Amino acid sequence: MLVVIPAILGKTPLEQVRSLLKDGRFVDGRLSAGTRARQVKHNEELQSTATQMERLNSIVMGALVQHPLYQAAAMPVRVATPFYARYTPGMRYGDHVDDPVMGPPGGQYRSDISTTVFLNEPESYEGGELVIQTGFGEQSFKQAAGDAIIYPSSSLHHVAEVTRGERLVAVTWTQSMVRDPARREILYQLYQAREGLLKNHPGETETTRVDHAYVNLTRLWAEL
Ligand code: NI
Repeated sequence: MLVVIPAILGKTPLEQVRSLLKDGRFVDGRLSAGTRARQVKHNEELQSTATQMERLNSIVMGALVQHPLYQAAAMPVRVATPFYARYTPGMRYGDHVDDPVMGPPGGQYRSDISTTVFLNEPESYEGGELVIQTGFGEQSFKQAAGDAIIYPSSSLHHVAEVTRGERLVAVTWTQSMVRDPARREILYQLYQAREGLLKNHPGETETTRVDHAYVNLTRLWAEL
């Protein structure tokens, strides 16, 4: 399931993020890559002071993690500290699957869901699409600044070469309380039905039944 969560960051936070990134120090992204990814990864990642990172993370992750659609679609139990990546002309990230287990010893988590938050406007660079293989073929994403996309970390994906301008994104991973992507999708569909019913038919028996089914199916499938 691919879900675009529109406008998690508004104009002012985006400006703050971009100004923090402008002053930051970027290093070769291969330093943080696994063996396989190192062969196809060609980008740069922010390596800033702890204070700058904290400010960035509180803006970006604060907005993402509190978003109701992210909560409903990802059902997070652990969320990683993000990377801030920059792609300038000639940079790309070839086809790969994200590492299954990430994080430092003692703080490891399973990556069930990958998230990309787009930090600059799509018109300001050429190329740089996030291309994800799905059961229905390839899907390509180049979202507005402030949008987030979540997709299963198990899917093969790449970032197309940037040919003009620069692409700025934050990327992070989530361990979900529902490990199976098919189950997460069912829960998300039921969540959407329940939200609609609670809004439009709050007092009806069907609403209560769908609400109960959603809550109890979550209880059945959630692992903490
Ligand atoms: Ni990836």
